[in-house]
Amino acid sequence: MTLEHAMKTLPMRGFLDIPIPDGIDLVAEINRMRKEKNAIILAHYYQIPEIQDIADFLGDSLQLARAAQNTDADLIVFCGVHFMAEAAKILNPTKKVLLPDLHAGCSLADACSGEGLRALRAQHPGSVVVTYINCDAGTKAESDYIVTSSNAEHVINQIPENQKIIFAPDKNLGAYLSKQTGREMILWDGVCIVHEAFSLERIAQQLMDNPDAKLIAHPESEAPILEMSDFVGSTSRLLDYVEKDEAQSFIVATEEGIIHEMRKRAPEKTLIPAFPQDETCACSECFYMKRNTMEKLYLCLKYEQPEILMDESLRKQALIPVERMLDMSKQIK
Ligand code: 13P
Ligand code: SF4
Repeated sequence: MTLEHAMKTLPMRGFLDIPIPDGIDLVAEINRMRKEKNAIILAHYYQIPEIQDIADFLGDSLQLARAAQNTDADLIVFCGVHFMAEAAKILNPTKKVLLPDLHAGCSLADACSGEGLRALRAQHPGSVVVTYINCDAGTKAESDYIVTSSNAEHVINQIPENQKIIFAPDKNLGAYLSKQTGREMILWDGVCIVHEAFSLERIAQQLMDNPDAKLIAHPESEAPILEMSDFVGSTSRLLDYVEKDEAQSFIVATEEGIIHEMRKRAPEKTLIPAFPQDETCACSECFYMKRNTMEKLYLCLKYEQPEILMDESLRKQALIPVERMLDMSKQIK
C-alpha cells in the first residue's frame, strides 16, 4: 500500500493503512519521532494501557482540553476520541492536531447535532443550552455553555436561577445534574453505550459477594446505579476517590481502561470492574476509545495523518461556549 493510496482510503478506514516493518520497536520509534517533531501525546484514561504509559499527559476530558490549550508543542497527537481532538483544535488552532483513528467516535456525540439543538431551542424560547463536551463542533457552536463531567455542576450553579435549561446530549448525566443542582432541565435523549450497559441486578450481586467493597460510578450511568453508588464522579474524581478513601475494595462502574491508572495509584487496593448486562461481551470497554492502537499512533506520528481540520467560522463559534466553560471552572482540578 503506497502513501498515496492509503491517503485515498483514509476517510473510509479512519487511519493510514500502511504496513509496519516487522520487528520495529514502536515505543522507541514513537519516542524518537515525538522529540524530532516537537510533538505532545495526550491520552485519556480509557486508552489502552500501552498508550496511557507512553503519553506525555494523561487526563480526563477537562484536563486534556486545558493541556491542549496550553501546550507549546507543534504537533498535538490526541489519543482519545474525535470530539476530544476537535476540542483541542478549537482551543489551539495554530497547532496540527492528529487523532490516530478518525473513526474513534462517541455514541453521545453521534446522538446530537447542531441543527437538532437549534430546533429544540426554538421549541423552548428563552432557554439556555448546556451541552456536554461529548459532542461535535457543530453542536458546540449551537450551545451557550459546554461542560465536562468534572465541572458541570459547578458551571450550572452559576447560571441564573430563573433561567430555563436544555441539557444535551446525555440524558443520564442530565438527570443526575438536575438532581444535584435542583434545576429543572429539558433533556436530550442520548446515552453512552458503555455506561448504559451496566446491570443493576448483577452489580447488586457483586456488592453482596463483596460486602466490604464500595460502588463508585461515572455520572453517565443510569439513575438506579448512581443511587446505589457510594460515590459518583468524573474519571479524575473516581481516581482521586480510590486513592484517598479508606476502603480497600471498589466496584468500578465506568470504562475499564481507568483500572490501569487506578492500580498504579492504589496498588494495594482491590478493583473490581462492574458487570454489564450481557455476560458475554466486553461492553465496559469503549470500542471507540480502543480503536487507537500503538501501530496507529506510530503511523500517525510518522505521516502526520489523520489530521483534525475545521472550518474557521465554525471553530470560532464553537470556541465561545468552550472558553466560557474554562473561565467558569478555573478552580476545578
Ligand atoms: P471524563 O470527562 O470523565 O473524562 O469522561 C469522558 C467520557 O467520555 C466518559 O465516558
Ligand atoms: Fe463516548 Fe461513552 Fe466512549 Fe465516553 S465511554 S467516549 S461517552 S461512548
